Amino acid sequence: MACTEISDSDREELAAFIERYWGAPFVMSRGQVYYPHKQPGFIERRNGQIVGLLTYHSHHDAVEILTLNSTVGGHGIGSKLVLHAIGKTRELRRKRVWLTTTNDNLHAIGFYQRLGFRMTELNLGAVDEARKVKESIPLLGERGIPIRDEIVMSLEIEPFLDDGD
Ligand SMILES: CC(C)(COP(=O)(O)OP(=O)(O)OC[C@H]1O[C@@H](n2cnc3c(N)ncnc32)[C@H](O)[C@@H]1OP(=O)(O)O)[C@@H](O)C(=O)NCCC(=O)NCCS
Repeated sequence: MACTEISDSDREELAAFIERYWGAPFVMSRGQVYYPHKQPGFIERRNGQIVGLLTYHSHHDAVEILTLNSTVGGHGIGSKLVLHAIGKTRELRRKRVWLTTTNDNLHAIGFYQRLGFRMTELNLGAVDEARKVKESIPLLGERGIPIRDEIVMSLEIEPFLDDGD
């Protein structure tokens, strides 16, 4: 099934999905709290069930991916959702798409780099600070790595030749 944009009728289902995969109804990025189910994004479904979800927040100059989840790994769902976010960034005429991830998330760090993202910022201790607000953030992550820092990953958007800029 094709990837669809989030609509208001999805939001209740998204709230439950976010709570399940992110341990709370909200996520934190650069010290800000976001409720992803209230934000725009893209959904991939199989037999009616959500198998992929990307939510984003549109800043004045860039699009920030807030959450990305794929429940069926290795079938291209995550990549497809990110490509949709890149397309949306162009459509909104923003120049950059970026996201934050945690230092333990080696899989995601590799995944985004393969899609062309660069590591553009390291916020030391940002997750330790976020945990004071969101207590459900575990102390240990992938392969027992202490979760402490936030890595910003960014992709600059090349303007189309006919964009006039
Ligand atoms: C990161 C995440 C979204 C990737 O989703 P995914 O659906 O597995 O992504 P893809 O299938 O597009 O790519 C995953 C891998 O499968 C490979 N792949 C893609 N399509 C494939 C196919 N048809 N056959 C075999 N392998 C394939 C890709 O090369 C990719 O390799 P890599 O991870 O080593 O880069 C997913 O692992 C996830 O939900 N993680 C937990 C939440 C998270 O960390 N989110 C990101 C931080 S915001």
